[in-house]
Amino acid sequence: QTTRQTLVMGNWKLNGNKAMVAKLINDLQAPAAQHPNVAVAVCPPVLFLGQAQALLTDSPIALGAQDADLHSEGAFTGENSAVMYQEFGVHYVLVGHSERRTLHGESDAMVAAKFAAVQQAGLTPVLCIGETLEQFEANETQAVVERQLQEVIAHCGIAAFSKAVIAYEPVWAIGTGKTATPEIAQQVHAAIRTFIAGFDTTVAAKIQILYGGSVKGASAAGLFAMADIDGALVGGAALQAEEFAAIISAG
Ligand code: G3P
Repeated sequence: QTTRQTLVMGNWKLNGNKAMVAKLINDLQAPAAQHPNVAVAVCPPVLFLGQAQALLTDSPIALGAQDADLHSEGAFTGENSAVMYQEFGVHYVLVGHSERRTLHGESDAMVAAKFAAVQQAGLTPVLCIGETLEQFEANETQAVVERQLQEVIAHCGIAAFSKAVIAYEPVWAIGTGKTATPEIAQQVHAAIRTFIAGFDTTVAAKIQILYGGSVKGASAAGLFAMADIDGALVGGAALQAEEFAAIISAG
């Protein structure tokens, strides 16, 4: 049995200012250092990557970005590329977050191209997948996540998943205060791992599958106790040092 390290990642979304970045990172240093068995990462808005990089020198906390363009450079006004992130010590890049899919119309094909661009720059993509409430109620969860995975597998190959992370975030649980029960989440995580195993069992055993959607300090331990839940992608609770530290402690 492969032992997968628990990964707790904070997605700050469009939140923060210089003072908050300094304080939050400072407050997270001790909890992260006290739990060396848990991998910790934060994804601040792009504007604060330079500041975060400086604050995270010699820290066990890794840096992540929330999105990347599929191009490395060129006439793409307003975009940021994975190649540029290299200079800021970024390790992880979220791709296909449901807010990008919904609010920015990102298709499965575009998400796959972004996944490839992140890997080409030598960074680790965190592929976000998950169903909407409507799809959940129609029992389409498995079909939806398999379709989202399939597009990336077709475009990048299954081997690409040996250097990637998957985040299962049911859209109905994001920012709503409704967390999937550990049992429901485990069921989907197991289905995701089985789907990957259909292509490559070694990759399936190794890949970290994070859960995301209203994870709090109080709900983290129950989720992490599940066999196929390897950590959390945290939104709201990642903006509060104490709450995020509680999630790290649960890992
Ligand atoms: O990417 C993290 C996420 O979408 C979950 O957000 O606020 O429900 O923890 P939240």
